[in-house]
Parts: sequence; structure tokens; C-alpha cells
Amino acid sequence: MSLDGFIAGLNDGPGNPLGDGGERLHHWLFSGTTPSSHNEFFKPAEASREVVDEWFDDLGAIVIGRRTFDIVDGWDGTHPLGVPVFVLTHEAPETVPEGATTFTFVTDGIERALEQARKTAGGNNVQVGAANVAQQYLEARLVDEIQVHLVPVLLGSGVRLFESLGAAPIELERTRVIESTGVTHLRFDVVKKQGTTKNENQ
Ligand SMILES: NC(=O)c1ccc[n+]([C@@H]2O[C@H](COP(=O)([O-])OP(=O)(O)OC[C@H]3O[C@@H](n4cnc5c(N)ncnc54)[C@H](OP(=O)(O)O)[C@@H]3O)[C@@H](O)[C@H]2O)c1
Repeated sequence: MSLDGFIAGLNDGPGNPLGDGGERLHHWLFSGTTPSSHNEFFKPAEASREVVDEWFDDLGAIVIGRRTFDIVDGWDGTHPLGVPVFVLTHEAPETVPEGATTFTFVTDGIERALEQARKTAGGNNVQVGAANVAQQYLEARLVDEIQVHLVPVLLGSGVRLFESLGAAPIELERTRVIESTGVTHLRFDVVKKQGTTKNENQ
């Protein structure tokens, strides 16, 4: 995310997936000298390696929105993080690019998508995004943790990660800061209402 809160610039679409200037947000993923031991597609800045490693070690499934899926043409059938992907949509596509990833199109809401993703993930994490979908899960208080990879650039306009979250504040507790080259990795727990633990809310 850019310092001013955008995860894509203006004019995002097929051929320009992160919008005008948005590629800058992913430079840290490819600016290192050594490829990730999990997937040589990524070559993260040195201090970012543990963040990328966690994706492969701890991630069990991804829930994303149909816009992201369409904009990247379904990652040509193979998502780089190598886990099953659940796509929230109002209407499943007729064809899906063939590759290594299992895509499931969910048309009956965010709770159902999360339920399926959690079952598939076993005990591992479920990652939700992009902006529109993440906002829905936040509003529904179904998010345990937020990770932001904050890039020192002001994009000025585009797709905001935290656009419409309703009026009630969502309290966060910062749990990690990693300063890396061209990015600061921030991690927060979402503070749940008193008397409940993280697990009771999952
Ligand atoms: N910076 C990064 O690392 C990063 C990462 C990922 C994505 N992105 C960018 O983020 C942008 C896309 O994000 P976005 O927020 O615009 O869209 P999105 O969350 O990817 O997708 C939104 C779409 O998903 C479907 N959808 C969402 N909730 C639904 C529900 N409850 N039930 C049924 N369908 C539902 C709808 O599509 P339909 O009505 O068409 O079905 C909706 O228009 C792109 O620019 C992408 O490149 C950036």
C-alpha cells in the first residue's frame, strides 16, 4: 500500500493490473539479490525475506474478489503463492485459465467463502483481499490480523485499501514492524470485543 492508502493507481485493468504508477508498490518483492527459497519468482529485499517466507509456510487459502481475478486473468491458472483461491463473485465465469491452482467461485457471500477457505486451509491462515473484499470482512469483524506492506510513495489516486468501513472505529494493536529496503512491513491484531479471544472469533 502507498503511504496515502492506495493498493493500485488509476486506470487499473488487464494489462495495467496495479494501475498507473502502482507497480512501484511491488518493487520490494523483486529488488533483492537472492530468490525466495519457496518460489524463485520472488526476490525480496533481504529484511523482507521472512515476510515472504511466512506466506509459503503459514498460508492455507486465499479469498479474493472477482475484479482482481479478472485483472490478472486468473494468474494464467497458477497463483504464485501456490494455495487454493476462492473468488467472490456474483456470477462464476464460463471458463477459467488452466494451471496448478484450484479456483472456487463463491456466489453466496463472504461468510460462505470464508467457511470454505478455512476448511481447505486446515489450521493455516486465510488471506483476504483486495480492497473491496477486505473491507467487507473488516466491516463484518471477521478479520483477526491486518498486514500492510507500506511503500514510501504517494500515488494520489486509485483503489484505496480502507475506503468504506462504516462509522464504528476498529481498534488495532501493532504486533510487528519490519523496516526493509523500500518498504515497511506492519502487522496488527484486530482488537475484538472484551471477553473473547482471537480463537473464539475465528
Ligand atoms: N497492491 C497489491 O498488492 C494488490 C493486491 C491485490 C489486488 N490489488 C488491486 O486491487 C484492485 C482490485 O480490488 P477491488 O477492491 O477493486 O476489487 P476486488 O475486491 O478484487 O473485487 C471486487 C468484486 O468482487 C465481487 N464481489 C465482492 N464481494 C462480493 C460478494 N460479497 N458477493 C459476490 N461478489 C462479490 C464483485 O464482482 P462481480 O460483481 O463482478 O462478481 C466485486 O465487484 C486491482 O487494481 C488489483 O490489481 C492490489
